[in-house]
Amino acid sequence: MISKKLQRARDFEKKYLRYTEEEQPGFHVTGGIGWINDPNGFAPYQGEYHLFFQYYPYDTKWGPMHWGHVKTRDFIKWERLPAALAPDSEYDRDGCFSGGAVELPDGRHLLMYTGVRNVRRRNGKLQAFQTQCIAIGDGVDYEKLAANPVIDAELLPEGGSTEDFRDPKIWREGDKYYAVIGNRSADGSGTILLYESDDAMHWRYVSVLSACHNQYGRMWECPDFFHLDEKDVLITSPQEMSAIGLEFHPGNANVCLVGHFDPNIHHLNREWVQAIDYGLDFYAPQTLLTSDGRRVMIGWMQNWETSSCKPQELRFMGQMTLPRELSIRNRRLYQNPVRELEKYRGVKIDYYNVLINGETSLRGISGRSLDMTVTVRPGNESSMYKWFRLYVARDGEHFTMIRFRPDTSTIKVDRTHSGFPHDIVNIREFPACVHNGELKLRVIMDRYSLELFVNDGESAASFVLYTPADASAISFTSEGAVLVDVEKYDLEMD
Ligand code: FRU
Repeated sequence: MISKKLQRARDFEKKYLRYTEEEQPGFHVTGGIGWINDPNGFAPYQGEYHLFFQYYPYDTKWGPMHWGHVKTRDFIKWERLPAALAPDSEYDRDGCFSGGAVELPDGRHLLMYTGVRNVRRRNGKLQAFQTQCIAIGDGVDYEKLAANPVIDAELLPEGGSTEDFRDPKIWREGDKYYAVIGNRSADGSGTILLYESDDAMHWRYVSVLSACHNQYGRMWECPDFFHLDEKDVLITSPQEMSAIGLEFHPGNANVCLVGHFDPNIHHLNREWVQAIDYGLDFYAPQTLLTSDGRRVMIGWMQNWETSSCKPQELRFMGQMTLPRELSIRNRRLYQNPVRELEKYRGVKIDYYNVLINGETSLRGISGRSLDMTVTVRPGNESSMYKWFRLYVARDGEHFTMIRFRPDTSTIKVDRTHSGFPHDIVNIREFPACVHNGELKLRVIMDRYSLELFVNDGESAASFVLYTPADASAISFTSEGAVLVDVEKYDLEMD
């Protein structure tokens, strides 16, 4: 049964989505219209990959959360499906918050999400109650369980908050189902709780998989937990993070904790903690396992702090990153664009060993929908260059600048001149080093974004840009001589 609230959202989509087609990016997911935040339910279902997202169709601001819905076969071309969930039940009347999805053995599609109900206290304050709920469907229409919520305060460990208890990520392993859920513990900071079930409907509390202890931010949102290249990886998005060197920026951040899961105490023993993405716009990532065994991650390419900042005329707010393949190498989480992107590469223009010392542009190297790799080496044996800069999305007024300095081993990205009519943070600096004297920058650009992958995925950084589409010049400059290779493909979606 489609509730009135869900029907209203679907009717709204039917009526208005067609007017926003012209505004859309080429290959990054948006809600089409209205607001989106976190990716939800990113999982395979019946031979395709489904993606849901936090969604408020009626405005470009956050509102009572629905789940929007798209699906894909190759992570690049997405098909839009009607809104899947609306906050239409007593236990989720104030929002269907983030969650995950899994295919059941009988072919049904199970969505697990956080139902939010706010209650006004005597002192006038709103108190939230967050519980975990289920909806089951066929890939288009979903029915909420009569037994909802399936995980509530009774299944919390002692001291666990009922107000901050959200974002279940569910998966199946053998004949059992597991879920990790973010919670706030008695010390005021985040924990990731592990739950277990035989049928995905009836759940048992297992353990605290990992706890923040006020070290990496406060509340931990949107967890995901998976095995990757002999390690166990927990990813989460901390709120109220304090900056730590150039590794973690303040505010709503993203971290991954890598180590080994101890099956006796159901706890993750950490070996290291690192940022997942160093850009200005990345939060709440989720992963899935593809049919050919790849762990693929997608994130919300936005920052909560700047989520009211966009050109006024745009009728959508929020995009997802390009899906990325994850791996572990040299004690780091690596990420690279999904290989399917390569099918959309058009003509290649390349240059090798170009000597740059001062400002240069190269014939044919320009564009705004592109996949470009720039490799930089010292151009002079006796003296090291001071810095190298790559300018993209450039015209007389605009540019986005990527700068590498070998002496400080840092990359700085500056999008001050990239179309934001707002006074916001526009610069990010992060660690990066050379390998065998070389630095490799892979830049993926779409209409409103730049994603940077350094040294074959050693680090990644995502940025929203609102630079006018015809600002498409690219140039290179350095202080001191460098030798540069450039390989550029236009990305062609038709
Ligand atoms: C993270 C988050 C989640 C929550 C959702 C609400 O961005 O705050 O914790 O489920 O957004 O839209």
